[in-house]
Amino acid sequence: MKPKISVVGAGNVGAQCAFRLAQRNIPEIVLLDLVPGLAAGKALDMSQTGAIDGFASNIIGTTDYQETKNSNVAVITAGLARKPGMSRDDLISKNAAIISDVVQNVIKHSPNIILLIVTNPLDVMTYHALKLSGLPKNRVLGMAPLLDAARMQYFISQMANAHLKEVYAEVMGSHGDLMLPISRLSTVQGKPLTAVLSAEQIKQIEERTTNGGAEIVNLLKTGSAFYAPGSAAAKMAAAIVNDTKEVINSCCYLEGQYGITDVCIGVPAKLGRQGVAEIKELILSDAEIATLRKAAAAVKELCGKL
Ligand code: NAI
Ligand code: 2OP
Repeated sequence: MKPKISVVGAGNVGAQCAFRLAQRNIPEIVLLDLVPGLAAGKALDMSQTGAIDGFASNIIGTTDYQETKNSNVAVITAGLARKPGMSRDDLISKNAAIISDVVQNVIKHSPNIILLIVTNPLDVMTYHALKLSGLPKNRVLGMAPLLDAARMQYFISQMANAHLKEVYAEVMGSHGDLMLPISRLSTVQGKPLTAVLSAEQIKQIEERTTNGGAEIVNLLKTGSAFYAPGSAAAKMAAAIVNDTKEVINSCCYLEGQYGITDVCIGVPAKLGRQGVAEIKELILSDAEIATLRKAAAAVKELCGKL
């Protein structure tokens, strides 16, 4: 059967994700939203773009979960987005109810699906989806560390006056204030960041990365980032259905890795047909491990409030 990816939530992130999936030539794409006409209109517009951009994906826009039947992956973007002054955690109870509704509907039509969560607060919603779905741990993961690393990569490239392709950025941890941008493992033209930029410049990059989402919310005023988030989710979903086994930092359920148990948090993961094929354990410094564990404890506390 042809790979099929459903994107639930046809708002800013969902639409960008579906569009990027089409540009990646995913054959079957379903875009679903509860607002009548929203997903159908966007899907039709995207389908017509195929004549210009040269893709031929079958893109369905719908309000009906029946159309998602036998999907390999569901990218879940349904939910409320941040407004200025709101933290990701402010969204918790409203988005948890939306995730419950969406996950139950998706699983009814695709019992062996892989869930890729985007809705915020990301680490909490990924755990929530894992627990309520009853799916194996490798089949539920979240998108955020790839986005956070993309932001760091961009900030480094600007500061070091280097091409994006010459920069590697490592980001782990939670998608929030306890994010862990790891400058020690980030490089410019293969050289450690510390050899290229000053300590003050590195500190600025780390802070800007951690606040990367809020910076865009404050500029947009009516919503949050969606181009890079949608593209990041599409890259992960495509890696899964195409079984690429790429290592992409993802929000994964941990069972002892990094000394962390029973929580979903950002770590390097090999992605393939079974979802999370392997979690990589990097050698971290004591301070990095401490931040990662602190983030895990904070996420766990929020999960306890659900
Ligand atoms: P948006 O408001 O543009 O779109 C959300 C869509 O979800 C709306 O079209 C709405 O009708 C739909 N929706 C709400 N409840 C639904 C339900 N029960 N079933 C189906 N559809 C439903 O918001 P945007 O900008 O697309 O953001 C979506 C979510 O993604 C937010 O929670 C946001 O905070 C999060 N986000 C997460 C990122 C990450 O790195 N993990 C990055 C960017 C956004
Ligand atoms: C972001 O980082 C709001 O989580 C969203 O852009």
